[in-house]
Amino acid sequence: MQKKLVAGNWKMYKDKSETFELISQLKEKLNSFFPDVDVAICPPFTSIELAGELLKNSKIQLGAQNMHSEVEGAFTGEVSAKMLKSFGVKFVILGHSERRTYFKETDEFINQKIKRAIEFDIKPIFCLGETLEERESGKTFQVVENQLTKGLSGISRIDLEKIVIAYEPVWAIGTGKTATPEQAQEVHSFLRKKISELYDSEIAMRVRILYGGSVKPENARDLFKQPDIDGGLIGGACLKADSFYQIILAAQD
Ligand code: PGA
Repeated sequence: MQKKLVAGNWKMYKDKSETFELISQLKEKLNSFFPDVDVAICPPFTSIELAGELLKNSKIQLGAQNMHSEVEGAFTGEVSAKMLKSFGVKFVILGHSERRTYFKETDEFINQKIKRAIEFDIKPIFCLGETLEERESGKTFQVVENQLTKGLSGISRIDLEKIVIAYEPVWAIGTGKTATPEQAQEVHSFLRKKISELYDSEIAMRVRILYGGSVKPENARDLFKQPDIDGGLIGGACLKADSFYQIILAAQD
């Protein structure tokens, strides 16, 4: 069994003082009891440096929410893997549906970013998932297979070990509508089967596949009990120390 990973995606929330407050509260909770779970938080870029300082000597790992595929250049407003690395970033969320939808990120661009993150020794949390329309028209498996194959194009077996996959059905993100544990498990096991076809079954067993989309303390335990769910990518519920901590605890059981 994989050690589970619970990662918090702060999205565009928390200014400097709020970052200080949330991390301090989280550290206090996790100081008294740190379960056998990997924990990461992904604050906005403006809080990366402060978060990195506050997380020194803590088991909570630092992540970012996005990056550009180039190392440097004339890309106004963008941030590179090299820059993130210099602040001690260990994970980066790539291909999130909000990036795909609002910023028109393509599978090819996401694939370039994944490769660049690995080059800088940052673990990509590679997100994929279907929209409600795609699910209702029976295209879920086709959509996630396509995103998976394109996202992993040209990535070696060795590099796959550094990638975390996050299945996030778009219809469940921020909507309060969670996929049932059975719906999520069905897609997770499909993804694992596809990874095994693209690589081999041994590596497919070891790749962590997180579930994301309205994970809360109330539903986390049942989701994490599924055999192919190796943790969660948490949005709304990670913005309060207490609910994020409850989800981390649920990942240990
Ligand atoms: P949510 O977001 O938990 O608020 O649904 C998850 C995500 O977008 O990563």
